[in-house]
Amino acid sequence: MSKTIILSNRLPVQLRISEGRIEAIPSVGGLATGMKSVHQDGESLWIGWSGLTREETPGDLEGDIDKALAGHGCLKVSLSREEVDGFYFGFSNRTLWPLFHYFMEYSEFELANWEVYEAVNRKFADAVVEEAGEEDVVWVHDYQLLLVPEMVRQQRPGLSIGFFLHIPFPSFEIFRTLPWRKEILRGLLGADLIGFHTYDYERHFLSSVRRLLGLEVNFNEIHLEGRVAKVDSFPMGIDYKKFREAALRHAAMEEGEESDLQRRLNLHKASTPEAKFFLSIDRLDYTKGIAKRLKAFEYFLQKYPHYREKVRLIILAVPSRSKVPQYRRLKKEIDELVGRINGELSTVSWTPIWYFYRSLEFENLIDLYTSCDIAWLTPIRDGMNLVAKEYIATRTDQSGVLILSEMAGAANELHEALLINPNNFEQIAQALDQAINMPPEEQAARNAPMQKRLERYDVEKWAQDFMDSLLAQKKQDAPYVAS
Ligand code: ADP
Ligand code: G6P
Repeated sequence: MSKTIILSNRLPVQLRISEGRIEAIPSVGGLATGMKSVHQDGESLWIGWSGLTREETPGDLEGDIDKALAGHGCLKVSLSREEVDGFYFGFSNRTLWPLFHYFMEYSEFELANWEVYEAVNRKFADAVVEEAGEEDVVWVHDYQLLLVPEMVRQQRPGLSIGFFLHIPFPSFEIFRTLPWRKEILRGLLGADLIGFHTYDYERHFLSSVRRLLGLEVNFNEIHLEGRVAKVDSFPMGIDYKKFREAALRHAAMEEGEESDLQRRLNLHKASTPEAKFFLSIDRLDYTKGIAKRLKAFEYFLQKYPHYREKVRLIILAVPSRSKVPQYRRLKKEIDELVGRINGELSTVSWTPIWYFYRSLEFENLIDLYTSCDIAWLTPIRDGMNLVAKEYIATRTDQSGVLILSEMAGAANELHEALLINPNNFEQIAQALDQAINMPPEEQAARNAPMQKRLERYDVEKWAQDFMDSLLAQKKQDAPYVAS
């Protein structure tokens, strides 16, 4: 029987060793949370990095680690500390991530990191080649593994290979600045199908292929020697049912069954019933616009002082890539901003910002989604932003307002939200004011069509569409391969 091999740097669980015992923690981030649902339902093997370097892995625990991963349908690619530094913290997160998100000034072009990136991509490709049967389908994910499709293709030309990019593909003018731009395009073109979240990212990619490789592009097909690679957009969905059911369970909870977090939220709501909670949830990443959001909140409270003591911003920032200097600097900036704003504006009975710097359990995430009147998500640039979709899915009574950056891929599908430019504080302040005063009927009228759309095109449908399209592409190619 054929299976799907999912390949990504991040597995759905991260391993840690605590007091000689292995702990498996769910991974955070759109790729892992989205693909987890697809993986659970299907016949698939997921290959990726365990989160531990070889140096952190005691030899006598190797077997247990493999067993722990196998329990989740996963297989590890073993990486040394040096490889993780050059490949993950280096080329992936100090070159590609900032460049693809238009943070050109953060992007470093280090030959040594590129070489490690290439070598580690080869390791992932070799792991696929070893595991894949003739009929298997390979689905490679994200910017950490851009070279893998071509590397697998060279060794196994007959395999069906798909690739999906979870972050934006930048415009040609940005992409062309990368010294290894052609190698990256060729790497991707090893796939039969290359998927993006939006039509704009797809268009940018095709333009780079045309201008940098001079290849013939026919609508969304690229003609290569002996085969055709297809490019298309597939906006990633969420596990709508899971979020909706969790929210319904949550609503049906008896008194005393709530989490500590929920109890505290309820307490605050009861003491000031007219108070509004603004919610902001992201990985702590400069692309998410967290520092700007804090400054915009301060601006809002200056412009509309009558909202002081009536609104509260709950910021949840999940620790991420803290070995990269920009992330460390951002953490410091956010700590200072929260401290300053709370210091200047707090009263004995009111703290304007509640700030959590940690990962939360799924149930606590639901507590926040369902308790906050307004979700305020303003990335400066974001491939999709699943948090926005998750918030809408949990609003089972159709109340709640989503304020969303137009720079997030999700804005294309969530156009009933209040869409703002994250750099325009005036517009943001007005949107917050509008959200606070939005009548319940208008909230429902905006949320209902978004919910319908999210329910119809959920993560399962997204994966199925991608797979159907990949298999159709392969069929079309078959005569070429045979000749
Ligand atoms: P990104 O992939 O850039 O991190 P997304 O918004 O697309 O951004 O995806 C983030 C995912 O991580 C969501 O599925 C969300 O539920 C999950 N997540 C975000 N914050 C937390 C948290 N504090 N604890 C657990 N999971 C979280
Ligand atoms: C984004 C990327 C993913 C990545 C996730 C978390 O969603 O597209 O590839 O896994 O962020 O980041 P991390 O560096 O912790 O894997």
